Amino acid sequence: MKIIVINNIKGGTGKSTITANLISSLIDIGHKVCSIDLDSPQHTLFNYVNNRSEDLPLMECETMDYKGDCNEIKNKIDSLREKYDFVFVDTPGGDFESLKDICMMADIIVTPISDSYLDLDVVLQIKNKQSFMPGCYSKIIWDIKKKKSQDSKNLDWVIVPNKFNVRKTKNQESVYKLLSKASPVLSGRISNFIKDRVVFKELFNKGRTVFDLKKSELTVSRVAAKNEIRMLSKYVLGEI
Ligand SMILES: Nc1ncnc2c1ncn2[C@@H]1O[C@H](COP(=O)(O)OP(=O)(O)OP(=O)(O)O)[C@@H](O)[C@H]1O
Ligand SMILES: [Mg+2]
Repeated sequence: MKIIVINNIKGGTGKSTITANLISSLIDIGHKVCSIDLDSPQHTLFNYVNNRSEDLPLMECETMDYKGDCNEIKNKIDSLREKYDFVFVDTPGGDFESLKDICMMADIIVTPISDSYLDLDVVLQIKNKQSFMPGCYSKIIWDIKKKKSQDSKNLDWVIVPNKFNVRKTKNQESVYKLLSKASPVLSGRISNFIKDRVVFKELFNKGRTVFDLKKSELTVSRVAAKNEIRMLSKYVLGEI
């Protein structure tokens, strides 16, 4: 079983949205997936899953408190190993006390980031067009990577450019270029981007994801959204 932790120290970058859609894409191709929502008290992912009607493919989610005992979370994850292929752990934003311990359990950390330089700052601090420094969040990830490598364990970090403008803008191009250039330095992989699409905003109340859309509901933009998530899930799993 692979443990995928969705995290960014910055809030509101699309962690829960990406988590719900990634889970759905993996269930769609037959994987056994469950999830833990650590983001109390808002529990966005848990509420998302609970909004689903019974005729939709089952998505499983439990809530646990990130302020609680990390061993409880670890034991919970261990108890899921036999039954599932993947467990997704959705986390709150911010640098909370148990963040490092939770990330230490991960095989993969997925970090959505928007096309705003303001959001980028936690990953990359831009000095001028030619040079950049790792942001405070990148340093946290490096620290975790280092600790894991001391136990001969690997940590794969995937940065997901999310909420990118549907129209190509100079700003998003420069953010993407910069991320790609910094990727080897950051030792993080940069995925395909997920665009800012209405479909990612409107399905929550019914707990649906782009993979639950009926044929009659598909538009060009929604098909594109589905392809973006499909591609992202392959990228996260290292298949492309
Ligand atoms: N690709 C996207 N296109 C359009 N809207 C998006 C996209 N991704 C996320 N959003 C919207 O951005 C907002 C924040 O998303 P979400 O709650 O998933 O972020 P989060 O990182 O989990 O936030 P928090 O830090 O509060 O947990 C929501 O309104 C969501 O609908
Ligand atoms: Mg969230």
